[in-house]
Amino acid sequence: MGMAITHLLREKGNDVDIQLIQPVGKVGPRMKNVTLRTDMPDITPYDALILGGPIWAFTASPVVLAFIKEIPSLKGKKTICFTTSGFPTSISGAKGGLKKLSAELEELGATALEGEAFFWGLWCNKKKMLQAAERICGRVMG
Ligand SMILES: Cc1cc2nc3c(=O)[nH]c(=O)nc-3n(C[C@H](O)[C@H](O)[C@H](O)COP(=O)(O)O)c2cc1C
Repeated sequence: MGMAITHLLREKGNDVDIQLIQPVGKVGPRMKNVTLRTDMPDITPYDALILGGPIWAFTASPVVLAFIKEIPSLKGKKTICFTTSGFPTSISGAKGGLKKLSAELEELGATALEGEAFFWGLWCNKKKMLQAAERICGRVMG
């Protein structure tokens, strides 16, 4: 999903960097005090930050939540989140997960645009994924 958004934004003429967020050790659903082994990027020169991760135990990934806590300079930054889920959106926990991510971002002074919950299932529907990626690009560039 992140790669699809990256490609689309580049096709539309934007400079985009993508970074995988990785934790130290094993992380389980709803785990607190997650330590990241990803260097925090300096996002000050960027117009927007797009963040995504899987839904685990009906809420947002603790790795993405840890990243939001650690990343500096969110103040005034345009942000947009996406989630992927194994269950259809209505029962996946994605709506609450996206709400939580947006609330954490807004708490730190960012502007959280409407996010995107993508039902990944067992096999990703590539066409639907590209449509979701297009919607994100539209919002972030709009
Ligand atoms: C520990 C764990 C908990 C999960 N909990 C949920 C859940 O509550 N709701 C849901 O729709 N999918 C759930 N999933 C499925 C993931 O959301 C799905 O595997 C993911 O979006 C696909 O990305 P991945 O290839 O990185 O796993 C869970 C997966 C794991 C491993």
